Amino acid sequence: MASIRKSDWRMKRLVNGSASLPRLLIEEIKLWRQIKKIADNAKKPPETCDFFSDSKLIGYGWKWAVYELPGAEVAKVPAGTFREVNDPKYLKNTEDTYKVHRSYLREFVVETSFERASFENKEFNILRQRKINGKEMNFVIPRELSGELREDLSKLALGMLGILDEYEWMPDMHLWRKRRKGKGGWNIWNLIVENKKPVLFDFTAYYDVWRLYPQRTERKKRINKRRWQEFLSELS
Ligand SMILES: Nc1ncnc2c1ncn2[C@@H]1O[C@H](COP(=O)(O)OP(=O)(O)OP(=O)(O)O)[C@@H](O)[C@H]1O
Ligand SMILES: [Mg+2]
Repeated sequence: MASIRKSDWRMKRLVNGSASLPRLLIEEIKLWRQIKKIADNAKKPPETCDFFSDSKLIGYGWKWAVYELPGAEVAKVPAGTFREVNDPKYLKNTEDTYKVHRSYLREFVVETSFERASFENKEFNILRQRKINGKEMNFVIPRELSGELREDLSKLALGMLGILDEYEWMPDMHLWRKRRKGKGGWNIWNLIVENKKPVLFDFTAYYDVWRLYPQRTERKKRINKRRWQEFLSELS
């Protein structure tokens, strides 16, 4: 349901029943397999969306099918893979999470509006954003970036560490050390570089390990804090 509230555990029945760590780990693996199977069998969303008269599919992920509309606007509708994504609660939680992003990551987060719309007697969650024009970030080598981009990514990293401190949670950017063609760098997702500035457009992860169970949060916190601090120090 995309909630990042501190005690909103995805595996709450086991957490409340004081399940042991080995049991939680086994259930975590099972849950992941179940989710991955659904995602692997998902159909590609249609090239145009019936709700909008002139729309073109420009991307999709586990949650949203992303349509470009006239006027450089983008509308995201549930991709149809996981039915929770169309729940009104999912919309509310995503909006709450977006507000956390905006307060810490400010200009690096694309302005987004959230609405519940109806079409042919059915209701849908819709996210609207402007179309971000640029190249999606994927692999970065900090010392090879421009000074401007390094500075912006540093601000972003500081914001990420701020979110971690307050919420014991972090936005889903998949920061990960990686080597490519013999060079060490970082993998980073969900950012598009537009006019040399990184712009974040995705605010939730469907499989959000931060809120699976308390011990998982602790582990993730330790790993991610170190990782973002290392990234930050390579940027400066
Ligand atoms: N505002 C935007 N402007 C331009 N392209 C966008 C925008 N938002 C999303 N996209 C494109 O659509 C793709 C999917 O978008 P998004 O990450 O929001 O979907 P998702 O379902 O949340 O993804 P995930 O699989 O990470 O859960 C992006 O990788 C990007 O290429
Ligand atoms: Mg995404």
